[in-house]
Amino acid sequence: MTEQNRVAIVTGAARGIGAATAIRLAADGFAVAVIDLEEAAGKDTVEKITAAGGRAIAVGADVSNGEQVAAAVERVVAELGAPVVLVNNAGVLRDNLLFKMSESDWDTVMNVHLKGAFLMSKACQKHMVDAGYGRIVNLSSSSALGNRGQANYSAAKAGLQGFTKTLSKELGKFGITANAVAPGFIATDMTAATAERVGMGFEEFKAAAATMIPVNRVGVPDDIAHTVSFLVSEGAGFVSGQVIYVAGGPLD
Ligand SMILES: NC(=O)c1ccc[n+]([C@@H]2O[C@H](COP(=O)([O-])OP(=O)(O)OC[C@H]3O[C@@H](n4cnc5c(N)ncnc54)[C@H](O)[C@@H]3O)[C@@H](O)[C@H]2O)c1
Repeated sequence: MTEQNRVAIVTGAARGIGAATAIRLAADGFAVAVIDLEEAAGKDTVEKITAAGGRAIAVGADVSNGEQVAAAVERVVAELGAPVVLVNNAGVLRDNLLFKMSESDWDTVMNVHLKGAFLMSKACQKHMVDAGYGRIVNLSSSSALGNRGQANYSAAKAGLQGFTKTLSKELGKFGITANAVAPGFIATDMTAATAERVGMGFEEFKAAAATMIPVNRVGVPDDIAHTVSFLVSEGAGFVSGQVIYVAGGPLD
């Protein structure tokens, strides 16, 4: 990797884990493309990066739409340069018990997490192959191990682990690593929405979750950003096809 092609793409980077990761990678020296559904939504992350002296652009794209993904990656190449880092972080929840889960709840979650990671990785890999260097990180979840009310999400997050391992095998010879980070409970809008759905205040919800976590606290977006920062570093080139659970302790 040369100084010129230190370009990273983070999807779903308008807020939460994606925003923290984009800000961290910018601090690590990457020019960062902040991709989210609406370009305007990414402005806040971009402003934080530029205020700290970094380089970033906001790009609007739905990662589950092939044409939008192709256009977004082309724009990144034109405005920042060819990406050597891709963090597939965009995600949504459509939780429900199986008997109440609609076909569209299933499809939406599969499309954003799984198809989105596939489309983004496919669009970026050719630039990484050309560079003979690349780092792909996919956001899985502790829910990959199974979680009540998340048949769709747990299947998608387990699927991302298989996808990651396959990418690591196909792309390793081009100097590209692929790894997954599987967070436990991280305090973001996503977990705040879950608290609301189950009728609990967010503070009470976080406190209850913390009692189940060995380090006695819930996670924060920077906990994940730090792990991603390691995985995309040059020195992590022998770490590939791995799933790192970042959950404050081991999981059953
Ligand atoms: N928060 C947690 O506890 C937790 C735990 C495990 C895994 N994760 C995973 O980490 C990732 C980030 O989670 P978060 O908590 O920051 O979520 P969040 O809801 O706060 O942020 C997700 C971002 O993704 C964007 N997004 C959604 N659909 C998109 C699409 N089709 N195209 C582009 N952008 C899209 C949203 O607009 C939003 O900005 C997700 O993949 C999530 O499943 C989160």
